[in-house]
Amino acid sequence: MTVDTGASNGHISRHIYGHFAEHLGRGIYDGFWKKDDNGDYIVRDDVVAAMKELGVPNLRWPGGCFADYYFWQHGIGPKEDRPTVVNNLWGGVTEDNSVGTHEFLALCEELEADPIVVGNVGSGTVEDMANWWQYINHPGESPMAKLRRENGREEPWNVSFWGVGNESWGCGGHMRPEYYADLYRRFSTFLHGYGDVKPFRIATGPSGNDYHWTEVVMELAGDRIDGLDLHNYTLDGTWAKKGEAIDFDESGWFRMMKRAMDMDELITNHSAIMDEYDPEKRVWLIVGEWGTWHEQEEGSTPGFLYQQNSLRDALIASTILDIFHQHLDRVKMANIAQTINVLQAMILTDGERMLKTPTYHVFDLYKPHREATALAFELDRGEYERDGESIPAISATVSRNDADRIHVSLTNIDPNEARTVELSFSELDGMSVKSARILTAEEMNAHNTFDAPDALVPVVFDGAKVSNGKLVVSLPAKSLVTIAID
Ligand code: AHR
Repeated sequence: MTVDTGASNGHISRHIYGHFAEHLGRGIYDGFWKKDDNGDYIVRDDVVAAMKELGVPNLRWPGGCFADYYFWQHGIGPKEDRPTVVNNLWGGVTEDNSVGTHEFLALCEELEADPIVVGNVGSGTVEDMANWWQYINHPGESPMAKLRRENGREEPWNVSFWGVGNESWGCGGHMRPEYYADLYRRFSTFLHGYGDVKPFRIATGPSGNDYHWTEVVMELAGDRIDGLDLHNYTLDGTWAKKGEAIDFDESGWFRMMKRAMDMDELITNHSAIMDEYDPEKRVWLIVGEWGTWHEQEEGSTPGFLYQQNSLRDALIASTILDIFHQHLDRVKMANIAQTINVLQAMILTDGERMLKTPTYHVFDLYKPHREATALAFELDRGEYERDGESIPAISATVSRNDADRIHVSLTNIDPNEARTVELSFSELDGMSVKSARILTAEEMNAHNTFDAPDALVPVVFDGAKVSNGKLVVSLPAKSLVTIAID
């Protein structure tokens, strides 16, 4: 690997490390919040502490599909007056609206996260959305600011990131892109800037490789869009029959790794279409939902999308983060789905118990790359072969932070073969390894359980040495390392 320490590959926005909390399963209730002795929902201190330690640059809410069913007026005012609704999308459970605008935005303040509020285009009106925006953001005298104050919040929250619908091609209304583009133009018109707070308008982007969606929406509405929200999940099999989270063999490992790498092609192709309409690259490509999607855990409530999280999920996450870092001219924000107890979660809870998943630890190992400059490199990625197919074995991110420290993350997805990577840096005299950590295990499906929550955690790595002016890294099979160099 040759690293050009003088060549920037772009700025790694902290927003690429964004999160997502939908009213789905045990993500909100029994996730970020739990019931106290009086039966009222309170924020879970252990979960919030763990997420604060990780750093949450942004948090997307209330969905997901739920956003296009959500009427924000149900979630404000005294709890006893809030109506109950049925969450038809996710398990048909009763939603009592205990967590609404005030509770979510208080959580964001606690986490020091920028909220991303997704408005309802699918079943709501322009007036509903404009009023919600005004309720949250208007600083002066207005009907909605008055209502907000009556509900106990004097100052506006100054939320800028605003989704205009979610998956409008699917659960958000099964629209054609032409129709959505027109609706987007209409709804977004009524989000007015107040003082310093301007709406950062996020349009529903494509599903996976739906390039037609990107083409049409960019052509008809691109000049009014600030961020286009691509959604793409990594799954084995089909939507009707996905793979298992833990009970998989090496072919299942390989197929998932291969599918994870599709992200590179998707971003390349969607970016090329965006370039036609936005050559200045003003519009962000946001990967607003990404991660692994397995069959949900046996015995868990249907529709709750609760799944375990193994070393395979972790190395998929690092591989995809590396891909984002190769496209920093467009990819400025992303949200892994979802934070607690849903899909590729950071944290799983069981009553009072909680655990950090292997994916949490990947985000932790990648923390030094946030807000750093990605450095350009050339890498012989090697090949990992299985079932007559081959994919690159190694992926990487190299960055330099404000304090001039370089961090290297290397992932070896090959579950059988260790690799040695020799790194030459164009200008780095007398370098030394400051620290190094590794995430790896004997088993491909290693994971944390409530009885063994630290079965898979990063540990000190002693396989990185400086030799003849090169950094030589002995990378075990199925591992991720992050090395800090001075
Ligand atoms: O993250 C789960 C669901 O996946 C979201 O609600 C939806 O936007 C997507 O299809």
